[in-house]
Amino acid sequence: MQKKIAVLAGDGIGPEVCREAIRVLDAVAQRFGHQWEYDHAIVGAAAIDATGDPYPAATQAACKGADAILFGAIGDPKYDNDPSAKVRPEQGLLKMRKDLNLFANIRPVTAYEPLLEMSPLKSHIISGTDFVVFRELTGGIYFGQPRGRSEDGSTAFDSCIYHVEEIDRVSRLAFQAAENRKAKLTLVDKANVLATSRLWRDRVKKMAAEFPKVEVDYMFVDNAAMKIIQQPASFDVILTENMFGDILTDEASVISGSLGLLPSASVGGEHMLFEPIHGSYPQAAGQNRANPMGAILSAAMMIDYAFGCKEESDCIKLALEDCLLAGEGTEDLFPKSAKTTEEVGSVIANRLLKLSEV
Ligand code: IPM
Ligand code: MN
Repeated sequence: MQKKIAVLAGDGIGPEVCREAIRVLDAVAQRFGHQWEYDHAIVGAAAIDATGDPYPAATQAACKGADAILFGAIGDPKYDNDPSAKVRPEQGLLKMRKDLNLFANIRPVTAYEPLLEMSPLKSHIISGTDFVVFRELTGGIYFGQPRGRSEDGSTAFDSCIYHVEEIDRVSRLAFQAAENRKAKLTLVDKANVLATSRLWRDRVKKMAAEFPKVEVDYMFVDNAAMKIIQQPASFDVILTENMFGDILTDEASVISGSLGLLPSASVGGEHMLFEPIHGSYPQAAGQNRANPMGAILSAAMMIDYAFGCKEESDCIKLALEDCLLAGEGTEDLFPKSAKTTEEVGSVIANRLLKLSEV
C-alpha cells in the first residue's frame, strides 16, 4: 500500500516524538511491504517564527493533500506568559481543527497491566479499564462568538454555543463506536445548569432510539470527574462537549500511568489527524527524554482508522506492550532505568520487526 502522511511535528517535544513514531511506521512499512511518503510541514510557534502564521497556507495544503496527518504538539511558554500576544500557537491548532472539519476527537483510555503500579490510583480500581472518550472538537466555548473584553477591559466573556447538527454528527460516531464495543454510552454534561447541555441531552435521547442495543446513561461532569477516578472500569464510551472532554481526558490519563501514553484521533469529514494528547512539554524539549509512546500509539491509530491496516496497528500495540512488560520506557514510566526517547522508538521498532505472526 502507498500512502502520503503529512507530518506536523510542531513545538516542544513534538519533533522528537514524531521522529520515533516515524521510525516505528518505517518498521511497519518494512515488515508489511508498504510505502509511506512523509510530507513535513510547520505549525504552531515554529510556524509563527517562520511565517507569522501558526497554520500557514503551505501547511493547509500539505494536510489537504495527504491521506492522513500525524501531529506532534503545539505551544510555547513565551506565548503562555504573554496574555497580550496577538498571535498564539494554539490558534493554529484551533484553526486547523475547523479548517479540516475535525469535529470528533477520539481518546482511548486503557489501563496497561504492567503499569498498574505506576498510577497514583490503586491497581484494583483501574485494572480492566478500557474506555474511549468522544470529545466534540470544533464547537462550544472554544469557538463561540461573541468572545472578548469589554471596552474598559474590566469584563471578559466567552460564549458556549451548540447547534443540533454539531451535536448529532459526533454523537452518531460515538453510538456507532459503542455498538462495536461494550454497547454502553455515557453522555457527560452539566444539564442541571447549562442550556447547551440540555440540548445535548435532548439530541442524545432522540438518537438512542436508533441504537436500541446501546445502553445510554447521563452524568453531570462534576460527578463524572469523580467516577472516572473511583470506577474507571465502569465506562465504555463517554460522549461529551469540547471543554469537558479536554479536561476529563487529561484526568483520565492518570489511569494509564502517564499522560505521555495517550494517543488520539481527530476525525470528521474528509481528513483525519492523529496526535498524542500530551502537548508540547517545553521543559523536556530537545532533551531526548520525552515519552514517544503517545505519538507511536497515535501512528497505530492512524494506520488502522485512516488506512484500514488493523493487523499492522495491532503489531505496533503488541510491540509497545512488550516493551512495557520488559520495563522499557522513558523516565515518566521507569525513572530508575529510564531509556531515552530515541531508545524507546528503536526498541519498539525492533520488537515489531521480530514479532512472530500476530
Ligand atoms: C488538547 C489541547 C488543546 C485543547 C490546546 C493546546 C488548545 O489541550 O488538544 O487537548 O485545549 O484542545
Ligand atoms: Mn487538552
